Amino acid sequence: MNSFSERLLTWFDKSGRKDLPWQQQATPYHVWLSEIMLQQTQVNTVIPYYLRFIQQFPDIEALANASVDDVLALWTGLGYYARARNLYKTAIIVRESYQGNMPATLDDLIALPGIGRSTAGAIMALGHHQRFSILDGNVKRVLTRYAAIEGWPGNKAVETKLWLYAEQLLPQHHFANYIQAQMDLGATVCTRSKPNCSSCPLNSDCQALEQGDPTQYPTPKAKKTIPTRQIHWIVAQSSNGEILLEKRDSHGIWGGLWSFPETKTADESNDYCKRNRIFSVKTTQSLDPIKHVFSHFKLNIHPHLMICTPNLNYIADNSNLKWVKIDEALQLGLPAPVKLLIQSL
Ligand code: ADE
Repeated sequence: MNSFSERLLTWFDKSGRKDLPWQQQATPYHVWLSEIMLQQTQVNTVIPYYLRFIQQFPDIEALANASVDDVLALWTGLGYYARARNLYKTAIIVRESYQGNMPATLDDLIALPGIGRSTAGAIMALGHHQRFSILDGNVKRVLTRYAAIEGWPGNKAVETKLWLYAEQLLPQHHFANYIQAQMDLGATVCTRSKPNCSSCPLNSDCQALEQGDPTQYPTPKAKKTIPTRQIHWIVAQSSNGEILLEKRDSHGIWGGLWSFPETKTADESNDYCKRNRIFSVKTTQSLDPIKHVFSHFKLNIHPHLMICTPNLNYIADNSNLKWVKIDEALQLGLPAPVKLLIQSL
C-alpha cells in the first residue's frame, strides 16, 4: 500500500482545491494573509475580503505604509479584529527588520505578532516550499482519526504527540500540495460530523474507521466538573403542623428567600436546638437527600425532619425565623427545592 502522504498527494491531484485565490500567487505574503483570514472563518466568507485586501495592499510594503484604521476598515465584518491589528504590526516589523520580505525560518515567523506554529508552518510549506508540517483543526481531525489518537487535541501532551506524528508523516517532496491536501481532506471529506469515508484515500487503514465510528475522534474537551456542596436542613415541624422557616441573607444563593435553617454538617443540625433552644425535639428522621444543580455547583441537600415543640419565647421580634402554617409558607418566596419539600410534608 502507498504511504499516507503518497495517497494524499494522489487524492489532491484529482480532488484537492487548486483555484482558491491565495493559491494563484502563493507568495509568503499571500499565504500569511490568507492563513490569518482563514483562522475561525470559512473559505467562502474569506474570499471577497481577501480579494479586496490584496487589491488595496498588493504587498507587505503597501500594508506597512497604511494606517491601522485603513486595515481595520477592510476587515470590517470579518470579526476577531485582533487578527487585523497583529497583521498590521507584523507588516511594520517585516518592513523595519526584514527589508519587507516575510522571514524564512519557523522561529522568526513565530516571533511575529499573531503567528503561531501552525500558521508559521503553513507559510514555510506553502509560501517558502520548505518541509514543514501544520496542525490546524482540520489536520488534527484527520490525524486523530487516522491513528485513533485519544485525548483532547488542545491538551499540551496530545498536541505534542500530534506535532511529532505530523512531522513523521511529511513526504520528502511536494510539501505545498501535501499540506494543502491535508487541509482539503479535512474540510471536504473527513468532516466533523458526517465524514465521507467511502471516498477517503485513507479508508483502508484508518484506525477510527476500523473501530466503527470516526466521529468519536478527536476526543472532545472534557466538560468541567462542577463542585458539589453538602448542606443540611432543619425541617422543624410542630405538633400543630407549623414549620420553622428562616429568611436568607440578601447575598448569596437564594438571597432574600425563605428556606429551612441550614447547617454545614449533620452534627450541627442535631445540635441546632441545643444551641438555639427554639424548640425541643421529640423525634428526628433523616429524609432522602435532594439534589439541586446551579450553573457553577451542585447542592446535595440533606433534610432532617424534627417533630418538635416550639419554645415561642426564643424567637426574637427582629429574628429572621418564623413559625408558619404550611399553606401560609407556600405563599412566601421559596427556593424550588424548599417548596417541593414543604408540599411533600
Ligand atoms: N484553511 C486554512 N488554510 C487554508 C488553505 N490554505 N486553504 C483552504 N482552507 C484553509
